[in-house]
Amino acid sequence: MSEKPTVPMTNGFESKTPFLIGVAGGTASGKSTVCQRIMEKLGQQHKEQTERRVVCISQDSFYRTLTTSERLRAERGQFNFDHPDAFDDKKLLAVLKDILDGKKVEVPEYDYITNSISNRSHTIYPADVVLIEGILVFYFKEVRELFHMKLFVDTDSDTRLARRVPRDIMERGRDLEQVLNQYMNFVKPAFEEFCLPTKKFADVIIPRGADNLVAIDLIVHHIWDIMYKKRPAKISNGCNGHIEEEG
Ligand code: ADP
Ligand code: C5P
Ligand code: MG
Repeated sequence: MSEKPTVPMTNGFESKTPFLIGVAGGTASGKSTVCQRIMEKLGQQHKEQTERRVVCISQDSFYRTLTTSERLRAERGQFNFDHPDAFDDKKLLAVLKDILDGKKVEVPEYDYITNSISNRSHTIYPADVVLIEGILVFYFKEVRELFHMKLFVDTDSDTRLARRVPRDIMERGRDLEQVLNQYMNFVKPAFEEFCLPTKKFADVIIPRGADNLVAIDLIVHHIWDIMYKKRPAKISNGCNGHIEEEG
């Protein structure tokens, strides 16, 4: 057994060791939205990066650099971005280990239009809770074993496709034909082969994603307990002892 966290899940955690939460699920299941809701409810969304006690990182920042021929295929929607080989899992592992060591790390922004990491990056400062979201965050064993808590966002495939199409057209510079072809050729088969089988590793499955306010509240309260029970002194200048209410 390698890299098992030394940190017990419910008894607080060692000084400077962040509580690492993996958030997996199919494309457009609502992983990013669920993470945003968690951040909002913990009052973290509008804080400066340096002030944040809860931070979120996307696995997409760890897509590997494509070769010239792969880049040309990607431009035609013929590259499989849903296969584990598309990721630089060694880099993801190294960054997560640095985070667990309490180090500050740089995480690049991913650009879905150029299919490459952009020249912008985010500095992730040591935080109490770090969320890592992505389709295959539970696929790589060594990465999976670093998480103290694993969430799987479980949304019906038809809902996911219905959300992915407008998102990719409006936000990721794609056209309808390309989105549908990519979905049929790569996204759907890879989801079934690589992503769905990782659901069994989850500690908590969130049906319906961000619509599931009860599940999100339970998770937020659990995170809140971890932050509050271990570090009450920091609460007054952290989350202000306040979990935001609905509405
Ligand atoms: P993922 O990160 O899993 O790919 P996103 O959170 O980006 O999923 O959600 C995919 C798309 O669906 C986005 O455009 C998002 O705004 C939308 N979306 C997510 N959750 C909901 C929801 N509960 N109701 C309506 N739209 C949603
Ligand atoms: O946010 P979401 O989980 O949907 O992001 C992962 C998806 O992004 C994958 O299903 C992959 O097909 C897609 N992707 C893409 N083009 C890229 C990188 C990822 O369409 N350049
Ligand atoms: Mg996302």
